[in-house]
Amino acid sequence: MSKTTTNHSSFMASFHFPLLSLFLLLLLQPLFTAANLHKTRNLLKSNLFTEHTTNRVNDTPPTLYFEVTKPIEVPKAKPCSHLLLHHDFAYTYGQSPVLANYTPPSHCSFDKFSKIVFEWKATCKGRQFDRIFGVWLGGVEILRSCTAEPRATGIVWSVKKDITRYYSLLVKNETQTLAVYLGNLVDKTYTGVYHVDITVYFYPAESDFSNHDNKGRDDLVSGYDSKADLILPISRNLPLNDGLWFEIENSTDTQVKEFKIPQNVYRAVLEVYVSFHESDEFWYGNLPNNYIVANNLTDYPGNGPFREVVVSLDGKAVGAIWPFTVVYTGGINPLLWRPITGIGSFDLPSYDIEVTPFLGNILDGKTHSFGFSVTNALNVWYIDANLHLWLDSMSTKTMGKLLEHNNEPLIVSLVSNFKGLEGTFLTKVNRSISSSGWVKSSHGKITTHFIQDFSYNNSMAMGNDGNLQIVNQTIHFNDSVSAMEQSLNAHSMKSFKLFSLYLYSDSVDQGNGTSLEVSNVTLGFDEKSSRNAGFGLSSSSLNNLQNGQGEIVVKNNLVSSGLGSTQQVYKYHGNEFCYFRNISSSNYTILYDQVGHNCNKRKMSQFGFSLRNGGLFHLKQLL
Ligand SMILES: *[C@@H]1O[C@H](CO)[C@@H](O)[C@H](O)[C@H]1NC(C)=O
Ligand SMILES: *[C@@H]1O[C@H](CO)[C@@H](O)[C@H](O)[C@H]1NC(C)=O
Ligand SMILES: *[C@@H]1O[C@H](CO)[C@@H](O)[C@H](O)[C@H]1NC(C)=O
Ligand SMILES: *[C@@H]1O[C@H](CO)[C@@H](O)[C@H](O)[C@H]1NC(C)=O
Ligand SMILES: *[C@@H]1O[C@H](CO)[C@@H](O)[C@H](O)[C@H]1NC(C)=O
Ligand SMILES: *[C@@H]1O[C@H](CO)[C@@H](O)[C@H](O)[C@H]1NC(C)=O
Ligand SMILES: *[C@@H]1O[C@H](CO)[C@@H](O)[C@H](O)[C@H]1NC(C)=O
Ligand SMILES: *[C@@H]1O[C@H](CO)[C@@H](O)[C@H](O)[C@H]1NC(C)=O
Ligand SMILES: *[C@@H]1O[C@H](CO)[C@@H](O)[C@H](O)[C@H]1NC(C)=O
Ligand SMILES: *[C@@H]1O[C@H](CO)[C@@H](O)[C@H](O)[C@H]1NC(C)=O
Ligand SMILES: *[C@@H]1O[C@H](CO)[C@@H](O)[C@H](O)[C@H]1NC(C)=O
Repeated sequence: MSKTTTNHSSFMASFHFPLLSLFLLLLLQPLFTAANLHKTRNLLKSNLFTEHTTNRVNDTPPTLYFEVTKPIEVPKAKPCSHLLLHHDFAYTYGQSPVLANYTPPSHCSFDKFSKIVFEWKATCKGRQFDRIFGVWLGGVEILRSCTAEPRATGIVWSVKKDITRYYSLLVKNETQTLAVYLGNLVDKTYTGVYHVDITVYFYPAESDFSNHDNKGRDDLVSGYDSKADLILPISRNLPLNDGLWFEIENSTDTQVKEFKIPQNVYRAVLEVYVSFHESDEFWYGNLPNNYIVANNLTDYPGNGPFREVVVSLDGKAVGAIWPFTVVYTGGINPLLWRPITGIGSFDLPSYDIEVTPFLGNILDGKTHSFGFSVTNALNVWYIDANLHLWLDSMSTKTMGKLLEHNNEPLIVSLVSNFKGLEGTFLTKVNRSISSSGWVKSSHGKITTHFIQDFSYNNSMAMGNDGNLQIVNQTIHFNDSVSAMEQSLNAHSMKSFKLFSLYLYSDSVDQGNGTSLEVSNVTLGFDEKSSRNAGFGLSSSSLNNLQNGQGEIVVKNNLVSSGLGSTQQVYKYHGNEFCYFRNISSSNYTILYDQVGHNCNKRKMSQFGFSLRNGGLFHLKQLL
């Protein structure tokens, strides 16, 4: 199942796409050799930028890089902190993940926690690529992330993540292995060593904070607490000289993991981690094969701009993921992401697939398998998952039955209109997957419906003799879960996600041996979600929009100067907590930064979302 990394191409795979990186091109080969078309593409792949700094390296404090996101709500009480790992990631590529033993913190004076927060803190100095990395506990992935690219004067950044959902794993009274894989390469040119501290903060349980023993206000019908009783890794096993993720290399590649569940499970959710690299790092900009063939282009990533991850259980597709277009810290133009990094780049989103309707098929105590594949994939996708299981403490055996499973084929429409290297392409895809099934446990006989609805729209234009590419893409990713006991609605969740991307990338020849590479990018991550656990409805909305403009001047195949500017507006509206941030940076400097915490009632209605189809919800409870 796992790939061996012996040949040259796999070796290169360790970098996120180093072959096409600007810096490598500068050092090892002329920047623009092939057809004009490749200019834009090569620059998209630039993930390293040498900064011409006038500062003296030693007297400048390190630059703080960060991702704009809402702070984690924690109780007022002081947490108990537990340092899990201190490590310097130097030449770690192709070596075993860095391992450490983990046991729950025995030094904490309390034994129940209301919140558990993970923190990755790192510094780096010199020159280095952006590296993808993963953190696993007992094979369960708890963070997928990308390192920040250092400067000569040094950088520092931290990633904080609420990992309370991994509660049962974190408090398990046994020694487990923490594994971190960050494939870094250090030599005379790429000097950056990542110095990392991983700490976990345990916050004590408070009476007014939802607590872990299924008595919080999280659930009316017990058992719909967000924290599972058992989490099974659906990842590769150690020992490995690589990440614990599976690698998906092409559109027919399916990676499979066998597993077995206890026979008293009454709810199951598969949480999937996804990242895309090399030929598919910018999948949303990959051109249709007919264009590539017609123009006799070689070494050019194709298969068009549509990708989906399909998750199967014993060979049947149970859910899909149409991923958010995370741009890593070296992507498009590395100067865009300094110091404000791209949405999701420090904490890649994971995606949940409700597996409960299928429990009837897998409660037999036998081995079953999950499979992962990627429609239209080019090398390489890193995918693995965690199976969250809720156990019936009152019985040793639950029963279930799958009632319905619909997996409509993809509806794809592609309109190509091009002549030579110029033209337009419109790709639209829809998909719907649904399932329902019941599970009988001490909580009753509960029927769960799971529906996923997707729609995708990508318009792409190639101009300026193939040097200009404009991509405008939207993904609607809707899912809903409802659990009913007879006709009583016990629990339901809905989520409407909208992922938007706009990319303008041009290479303008100035006619004097100089060219100007321009790239503007817009990334949008919007989500409205609601949850009804019987006591009423809770809802939240997030609008997170990032705009960036970057320019690089290339002279005689060398980058002579560059500038990146970014603006971001982040608006989160929860039931009891709101967060607003409006921030901008240019040339490493923050231009403005407004932060707000007030839940403005009047403003909220503007986020209020229509629940036309939401018969399960009560509109009046929304506002
Ligand atoms: C953890 O396990 C050890 C050994 O099995 C046992 O002695 C100890 O009491 C356990 N601690 C807790 C908090 O359950
Ligand atoms: C796709 O990848 C799999 C797994 O590496 C490999 O066995 C297969 O030959 C590849 N198929 C194509 C068409 O390249
Ligand atoms: C296509 O490219 C190949 C490799 O560069 C070349 O040998 C061939 O002549 C080209 N064909 C056409 C029709 O341009
Ligand atoms: C695809 O989904 C969108 C949004 O739900 C809808 O407007 C459109 O009609 C669908 N197209 C097809 C071909 O089903
Ligand atoms: C997703 O939900 C939104 C909001 O209800 C709706 O506008 C959109 O058409 C839905 N898209 C799909 C693909 O179901
Ligand atoms: C899809 O994109 C095209 C071009 O941007 C646009 O005209 C069309 O309205 C879009 N369709 C949807 C359903 O968003
Ligand atoms: C992208 O396309 C949508 C329609 O799908 C349109 O509303 C929007 O203005 C376009 N964005 C840009 C920057 O052209
Ligand atoms: C090259 O031409 C551009 C546009 O005319 C000009 O702005 C730039 O200064 C020139 N660069 C050099 C090195 O002559
Ligand atoms: C790119 O961004 C710059 C700065 O906002 C703007 O002046 C320019 O018009 C943008 N270009 C395109 C094609 O969007
Ligand atoms: C963000 O701040 C800028 C500069 O002050 C302002 O022009 C813009 O309107 C603000 N945006 C929002 C959504 O508040
Ligand atoms: C960016 O800032 C540096 C000083 O920190 C300055 O030397 C350089 O000229 C600036 N670049 C641009 C394009 O403004």
